[in-house]
Amino acid sequence: MQNFENFLLNHLPISKSIHPHYEKALQRMLLAGGKRFRPALLLGVVEAYNPLLLEGAYHAAYAIELLHTYSLIHDDLPAMDNSPLRRGEPTLHVVFDEVTAILAGDALNTYSFEVLSNAPFSDYTRVELIRELAANGGLNGMVLGQAIDCYFENKPLCIEDVKILHTNKTAKLIAASLKMGAIIVGREKLGEKLYDFGIKLGLLFQIQDDILDVTQSSDEAGKLTNNDEAKNSFVTLLGLCEAQSQADELAQIVTQELESFDEKLKNELSPLLIHYINRHKDSV
Ligand code: IPE
Ligand code: IPE
Ligand code: MG
Ligand code: MG
Ligand code: MG
Repeated sequence: MQNFENFLLNHLPISKSIHPHYEKALQRMLLAGGKRFRPALLLGVVEAYNPLLLEGAYHAAYAIELLHTYSLIHDDLPAMDNSPLRRGEPTLHVVFDEVTAILAGDALNTYSFEVLSNAPFSDYTRVELIRELAANGGLNGMVLGQAIDCYFENKPLCIEDVKILHTNKTAKLIAASLKMGAIIVGREKLGEKLYDFGIKLGLLFQIQDDILDVTQSSDEAGKLTNNDEAKNSFVTLLGLCEAQSQADELAQIVTQELESFDEKLKNELSPLLIHYINRHKDSV
């Protein structure tokens, strides 16, 4: 992933102007790090089938990270989760102000599609990638999930609806990361299978995130924890114990499904995924 980090540093959003801190705000959350889980998924698929395409794939991996980072900046705003800490750093609306945080998020959102449009692939591949990112990160993906998440604060949902919420706000972008890797290597049929797998993986990822909200300190998580009381989180609705056991169950399904992939893909994804599939067990 070092090459990905170098790519990111070489393609930071740049905007020189009379504004005293706009450019700093654009870059700050990208530079703060994070797990880079979604880029690693996309790059893992490309590495498995055609490492020669990795250079180009960094554009797509970075585009997903840009869109994800925008979603976090907006997620932390006072109107949404009102969080002062992200990726171990004070959030943008705290360091600067709300207007700056909103606009930095907007800029990263559109910049992600600019980066993708410059990827060195055929027009066909680029359009497919742009469609995939937009469809999963936008109105019927992450944004819908966030809308449901915020609207239903303090209004408990049934667990089936929470799965729909988590699928939209988190799982679709994770599924798209895997599928975009498959699009790059020209394996669209595998892309469909990876997408279904990614939805389960992404649902697990968000259930774990709900668990970590109550089991980790803000210091450990690098973001405000114990902040989901009003949310339709798995823990709020089911309690920690039942959330854990649902995560265990899903972790088992995801592990089994991972086994059904061919050797090349398993070899690439397993070392990364073993850690993530079990991360809800680390903190208890
Ligand atoms: C946080 O995503 C928001 C969720 C979808 C749970 P990550 O846990 O991937 O955050 P970073 O990128 O590592 O900061
Ligand atoms: C947010 O979910 C998912 C996004 C689409 C940003 P959370 O609100 O649970 O994410 P964290 O816990 O703040 O990272
Ligand atoms: Mg949120
Ligand atoms: Mg949040
Ligand atoms: Mg959370």
